[in-house]
Amino acid sequence: MLSRRHFLTGSLAVAASGIAAGLYTWQVEPHWLELVERPLPIQSLPEALIGKRLVQLSDLHVGPRVADEYLLATFERVAALQPDIVAYTGDLTTYHTEVFAHAERIYAHLPKGRLATVGILGNHDYGPRWSHRETAARLADIFRAAGVQVLRNEVTEVARLQIVGMDDLWARQFRPAQALAAIDSTRAVLALSHNPDTVDLPGWDNFHGWILGGHTHGGQCKPPFLPPPVLPVQNRLYTCGEFALSGERKIYISRGVGHLLQVRFNVRPEVTVFELQSA
Ligand SMILES: [Fe+2]
Repeated sequence: MLSRRHFLTGSLAVAASGIAAGLYTWQVEPHWLELVERPLPIQSLPEALIGKRLVQLSDLHVGPRVADEYLLATFERVAALQPDIVAYTGDLTTYHTEVFAHAERIYAHLPKGRLATVGILGNHDYGPRWSHRETAARLADIFRAAGVQVLRNEVTEVARLQIVGMDDLWARQFRPAQALAAIDSTRAVLALSHNPDTVDLPGWDNFHGWILGGHTHGGQCKPPFLPPPVLPVQNRLYTCGEFALSGERKIYISRGVGHLLQVRFNVRPEVTVFELQSA
């Protein structure tokens, strides 16, 4: 028979490990940033870009739930990498009443690329219910003033690499045909699209290559060996990492830097450090 003393000791141990796991999930992992290093092989990559460093930051979620100090420390780590290109893949903010002043204050410290700094918007940059286009326009102006070239279904060129930036799906602004109309598919190209579900929608016909996305935060919490229970995508395969797609396309989904609720378990936040290579 289990003695009362054994029962109490066991209960205390269970309670203590529960508290420790809770503290880890709340106070440790959300700020335990991983720099993920990967090659990014691109067809017809101009020689001048071979070996250059592209850093992707996704889902910063500047707002009331992500500590400013954590974001500023992350920016310092990225700046120390001396990236050639920095790409921000949406959800730069979480909407709140002070979002514009807050974004201005934090984005004054954004790390930038030696050659270019580009960015796209995510659903959270569109305010409540992802429906406030004026909010998105004002935030886009703030990002531009901070030195980010904001691409809204547009293409830019960096040393003859075409970079296509899609606007957000949930905000009903995703227009791939418009964004891709200007690309030359015989030349090097890279796309940014916040929501991974966009890759399953029509409109990508003349695009072959890598798409960098975010949005899922990797699910934020994941039991070992099982998929994350909460994932804001229709295609639940799209958790995080690399996926091969139709039409010689591939997507890389970042786990993101920030969070919505301050909890992460088994899904550390990520900054992705790509080395551009010739495919
Ligand atoms: Fe997000």
